[in-house]
Amino acid sequence: MNVELILQNPLNVSTPLLVLPIPRGTDALDGALEAADTLTGGDLQRALDRKDVTGKKEETFLLFPREGNGPERILLVGTGKKEEVTPEILRRIAGKAVRVAEGMKLSSLSFWLDPAASVPEGTFAQAVTEGIVLAAWSFRELKGDDDESPHVEVEALSLISQGNEEEVRRGLLIGLAQARGENLARTLQCRPGNVATPTHLGEEAKRLGKELGLNVTVFGPKEIEEEGMGALLAVAQGSDEPPQFIILEHRGGEKDDAPLVLVGKGLTFDAGGISIKPASGMEDMKFDMSGGAAVIGAMQAVAELSLPINVTGIVPSSENLLNGKAVKPGDVIHTREGKTVEVINTDAEGRLILADALSYAQTLQPAAIVDCATLTGACVIALGHHAAAVLGTDDGLVQELREAGDRSGERCWPLPLWDEYREQLNSTVADLKNVGGRSAGTITAATFLKEFVGETKWAHLDIAGTAYGEGKVSYRRKGGYGSPTRTLLEWIRSRVA
Ligand code: BES
Ligand code: ZN
Ligand code: ZN
Repeated sequence: MNVELILQNPLNVSTPLLVLPIPRGTDALDGALEAADTLTGGDLQRALDRKDVTGKKEETFLLFPREGNGPERILLVGTGKKEEVTPEILRRIAGKAVRVAEGMKLSSLSFWLDPAASVPEGTFAQAVTEGIVLAAWSFRELKGDDDESPHVEVEALSLISQGNEEEVRRGLLIGLAQARGENLARTLQCRPGNVATPTHLGEEAKRLGKELGLNVTVFGPKEIEEEGMGALLAVAQGSDEPPQFIILEHRGGEKDDAPLVLVGKGLTFDAGGISIKPASGMEDMKFDMSGGAAVIGAMQAVAELSLPINVTGIVPSSENLLNGKAVKPGDVIHTREGKTVEVINTDAEGRLILADALSYAQTLQPAAIVDCATLTGACVIALGHHAAAVLGTDDGLVQELREAGDRSGERCWPLPLWDEYREQLNSTVADLKNVGGRSAGTITAATFLKEFVGETKWAHLDIAGTAYGEGKVSYRRKGGYGSPTRTLLEWIRSRVA
């Protein structure tokens, strides 16, 4: 996507489509709306008088200017009440504008950043850029061309502002990098299990290393064994694809500054192992690497923005299949941390590969570790598809993530991590077992992870219900959402002094 900033009166901008946000309850027209009314010979006022245009959230209405060399079309998009406009509403109206442009097969649009808006102009520019760049993304690499109705993508965006150039440009660049990072995560998510293997994720990470100067290290089975990562190896032993342990390092801070560490579950296909899943819907288990995809997407953006902070991304990656060598219920495995685990259910594999990754992450002496993982079906039962669960050892960190999620529109909601839950993981033969029974499934999974973080400040996002879906929000599509890439980025940026 080509994004530019234009500092002039929107009605003078020559563009196939000018998008003007319009608040609910607009009656007296001023600024760009007044000029739009003049250009359309009073059509805007007439539409308002007839209540064809009400400013209701995401309502759209198309106008045609009668004169001038400015916009060929004007698209009004309702924002709801002016004082209640949020960055998320802006992302959604921007997404809506892209859907209208797509319908008309237009490949570029211009968006007016209303100076009277209640959202600060930098944040406004960031949200609109994110909404447009996210909405314009699609996953077409495995489809042929449709000659009857060729797909036209929105490829160019102009933000039109009469505000503070520096603020608006900064918002634009942040929004662009964050949305591009999330889009990379979506692409990796949507690639099927036979394409996005652990090796493929490792290669994508190496590509980012070359392109953006990240330090990328990928351990294969040999190094994973040398590291003593018996849990990751146990999950991988039922598959022919070699596991990979991917490390992406961005050194933007001082040499000795403790890094922030992101860990993402990179399970490229979860059949459940010997505790095999039912066939129906199993194809969605290609999305079980969504946490890893979000970490890789976030690392791309961290590097693109050259954030002045040290950040390391870690993605333990494997398949969870079944063959004659597969790990079995009852088997006891040795984790990198030294603790033994009795595998009760081979489908609770995410916590196993994360255990070794969290244990490794501790050795980097991080300021904080945040992991994200499509970890439990129980999380979908608890929160549905509207929030990820957040749990952790540090209330301040959990609060930072909640606030980051509120800013990104990818919300997360806390669940407790009290010591009482630990006894559900007691095993008769090992230090702990990998499942804690039917009750509190999301909490017992996080309680398992907590055994592998030592004293480090750590938080865990269970994204089983929010990483992918039907694409009901305007800027999304059916498939991977890339979430929580932007939440991770909002959090990291909040840590930049
Ligand atoms: N990858 C799944 C969790 C999942 C479920 C993600 C639904 C997305 C949608 C995970 O590995 C898993 O299978 N968890 C089991 C754990 C159980 C065996 C304790 C689950 O949630 O059923
Ligand atoms: Zn599983
Ligand atoms: Zn899984």
